Formats: sequence, structure tokens, C-alpha cells
Amino acid sequence: MNAGAWKIPLFDLDYGPEEEEAVRRVVRSGWLTQGPETQAFEEEFARYLGVPEVVMTSSGTTALHLAYLAAGLKPGDEVIVPSLTFIATVSPLLWMGVRVVFADILSVRQPVIGAETVAPLIGPRTRAVVYVSYNGLQEPLPALRDLCEEHGLLLIEDAAHATGGRAPDGRPAGSLAPIAAFSFFANKTLPVGEGGALATHLPEVARQARLLRSHGMTSLSWDRYRRRSLTYDVVRLGFNYRASELAAALARVRLRKLTVEVAQRRERVARYRRLLAQAGMPVEPVPAPLETGSHYIFPVLVPQDREGLMQHLKNQGIQTSVHYPPVHRFRAVREALGDALPSLPHTEEFSRRELTLPLYSRLSPGQMDQVVEAIHAFFA
Ligand SMILES: Cc1ncc(COP(=O)(O)O)c(C=O)c1O
Repeated sequence: MNAGAWKIPLFDLDYGPEEEEAVRRVVRSGWLTQGPETQAFEEEFARYLGVPEVVMTSSGTTALHLAYLAAGLKPGDEVIVPSLTFIATVSPLLWMGVRVVFADILSVRQPVIGAETVAPLIGPRTRAVVYVSYNGLQEPLPALRDLCEEHGLLLIEDAAHATGGRAPDGRPAGSLAPIAAFSFFANKTLPVGEGGALATHLPEVARQARLLRSHGMTSLSWDRYRRRSLTYDVVRLGFNYRASELAAALARVRLRKLTVEVAQRRERVARYRRLLAQAGMPVEPVPAPLETGSHYIFPVLVPQDREGLMQHLKNQGIQTSVHYPPVHRFRAVREALGDALPSLPHTEEFSRRELTLPLYSRLSPGQMDQVVEAIHAFFA
């Protein structure tokens, strides 16, 4: 990738001949939209996850939208979500007229919602809980699933960060909740540019998601091309959330490379942790299980002046980011909610102190040394 002016970008892509060959295969096939590659990826990803149904989509955002629609959420229903997430977790709910209730994260060292922060928010109109597995974190999920079962609430996982990680019981991350949405955006652990998937244990949710993905039509262009059908009916108003065959073919290659990708990230996370501990700096890695984490990002907590540190690193050619500015503070969200700001002290503190350092499979030891030395120089 041309990383522009950055000496060390936040993320860099590791594509090679297998990805080129996958694109060539699709180009040679003459079929570019949802077809055999998409179907093959769905089967392969379902097998990998150990989940009966996978529906590939055009993005993680559209997978989430389909999850919410297929779950039957309606205007006026309440859904409990974290504010510490990307806006895409929340915006489809607001478009649907669903009332969003923000739960705090468990702590700045466990930046996900959990049974303790969700339970007090459950009310008569609560229908579902959306768990965002920040940096793949799965540990609080089983207790939250029990709470949801106890109250008859649907649990949906936003597993955009989680691809390639594992739950404490060894199962693949993203397979614990009845419905999960994945993102294959360009910088994710399974990167294809634009793409996503809904994975579900619920056959009816998968059926509805497949219908809504392609305008509620009873047949696809692919079916008609294969002479399976001559025409179609529209049985539910839907969207065009189909994936491109190019994305599906790339996703198949990246799924085969996923274990190695995550292992390479794990090595780098372990090295960052050693370097930061040796340097004795006040910057503290946000805990993530080394062996089972997806290691999508490498977030650290900065004691003070996070903006100053970001600027200092930028001046050294090192790109950093913040995951995330809290969603409840965005103007469009405040206008949509029209309520007083919720009290989310852990989320506020985390968003003020978190800094995401560069992490990708080809990040070199020398580059990591430069990042840590630059942080050291700032605090010295
Ligand atoms: C937590 C989270 N949710 C949802 C999304 C949306 O995914 P996409 O960019 O593929 O639409 C992302 C990715 O950017 C994300 O990080």
C-alpha cells in the first residue's frame, strides 16, 4: 500500500499472489455479483465458525442492519448498546426508529459492556442487547448471554473486531451469540476492502437476512442465469446489500490465511508489551488475552495529554488513532436521541485516554522500536 507520508502507518495490507489469483479467477469467470464465490465463502466461514448459517454482505454495517431487521426490531423497541463503538453499530438502529439505550463499559481495562452494566437498564420495552467485542474481547459474553436468556432478550454481537479470535471455551469469536455481524473492511483481520457477514444459529434470521439482502426477491440474477428461475416476486421490501464476487473470492483467501495473520499480530503484541514494560513508561496496554485475542488493534491507555502524544507521534511520521470517540457525544446521535446525556464514566475516561498504536502482520521489530522510542521521548 502507498502509505502516503507516514513512516509507520496505523495499518498496512499484506496481499500477495494468492489474492491476485483470486481476483483473476473472478474476472475470468465473467460473473461479478453474488454467485458461486459468495456461496463458497459462506459455507467455508460457517464451517470455520461452527455456526449453521452465514450470509455474506456488502459491509459490516449492512450485516448489522440485516441482523436488526431479521431480528424483528421495530420502532419504539429499546436496544441496549455500548457508546464505545463505531457509529455503524448504532446508526441502523436509529434509522429504524429503535430507541437506543447506552450502557457503560465494565472498566477502562475491560472496555466492553457486560451483565453488570446492562442489567440495570433492562425495562419493559427492551428487546435486544448489542455486545461489541472491542478488540475481539469475548470474556464477558457468556454472562451477558445468560442475562439475556433470563430476560428473553436477543443478544446480537457486533463482531467486527473479532474475526480470528477465540472465546474462553476455545470456540471461534463471533459464534457465541445467536446472531453476529462481522466486518471485512480494508484494515480488519480478514481484509477484503468492503465486505461483511451475518452469522447466526437461527435459521429464520438467516432466511430473512438473505431475502432482505437482495430486495426481498424470490430469485437472484445468479439463479436466473443458471436457468433455475425465469422471473421473481418481491415478498418483503429490502435492500441491495449483496457482496461482490471479487470480495468473496478475496475473503476465501484471507480466511485460509486468518490463523497465520492473527499469530503474526500476536507476536507483535507480545513484543510491544515487553518493550513498553522495559521502558517503564506510564503508557499501559489495554488488556487482551494474548493467546486467544483477535489482535485487531493495539490500544494503550495514556495517563494524560493523549492529544499531545498523538501530535508528537504524527511529527515523527507515526500514525495513531482513537478507538473510539464515544457515540453518545456525536451531534447527530444527540439530535436523534433528544435526551439528556447518559452517564457513562468509564466510557468517557477510556475515550479520553485511549490511543491505538500501529499494528499489522508485517510491522517490523525496527518499526516497533521506533514507536516505543518516540513514546519514551515524549514522556522523558
Ligand atoms: C465495531 C464496528 N462495528 C461496525 C463496523 C462497520 O463495518 P464496515 O466498515 O464493514 O461497514 C466497524 C468497522 O469499521 C466496526 O469497527
